[in-house]
Amino acid sequence: MKFFIDTANLEQIKEAHALGILDGVTTNPSLMAKEGIKGEEAIANHYKTICEMVDGDISAEVLSTKYEDIIEEGKKLAAIHPNIVVKVPMIKDGVKAIKYFTDNGIRTNCTLVFSAGQAILAAKAGAAYVSPFIGRIDDSGWDGMLLIEQIATIFTVQGYKTEILAASIRNANHIVRAAELGADVCTCPLDSILGLLKHPLTDIGLAKFLEDAKKM
Ligand code: E4P
Repeated sequence: MKFFIDTANLEQIKEAHALGILDGVTTNPSLMAKEGIKGEEAIANHYKTICEMVDGDISAEVLSTKYEDIIEEGKKLAAIHPNIVVKVPMIKDGVKAIKYFTDNGIRTNCTLVFSAGQAILAAKAGAAYVSPFIGRIDDSGWDGMLLIEQIATIFTVQGYKTEILAASIRNANHIVRAAELGADVCTCPLDSILGLLKHPLTDIGLAKFLEDAKKM
């Protein structure tokens, strides 16, 4: 399973990258706004900086919702760097745009996916990635992991090439479960990635080893 970090924060990207396990980055308008990135030029420059930091797929989300505007915006985003993956929302015009981008050699990440039906549409349109939002499904009282499992089954049975990108990750256990159920990628906040490191028995064991090492 590939690891993406889900942030527009350059320090966090640097920290995750330094671990040596980072395969890419996803952003969204909320994450960009959180970093105070405003205006077309600043947005493009920020994506360029991220692309220069991490050699992997970098998702850049369109803000448009009309077909023609999505195409125009997506082309501009894709022109920033060859590693840009255009992130397109799961709406009717979005599906049409994903098909256009696929036919024209621009890779896409279909975002805001909350059902298997939506994932099938994204795959049929040729999206490189489909992003089911695990945490938000959990927040609404359902089980986000069931969706990962269902999409993984369908994509295997149907032979779809679209990769399952488990998104809206809230904790380390989400990452483990997504890996177990066949997600191709997990995009995670830094805290969830670092959460994978933690186990109390590791801390206790290390403290004992270091204590005993003094007697060596
Ligand atoms: C995915 O690409 C999204 O940016 C992200 O995972 C959404 O997560 P959230 O539900 O924590 O906002």
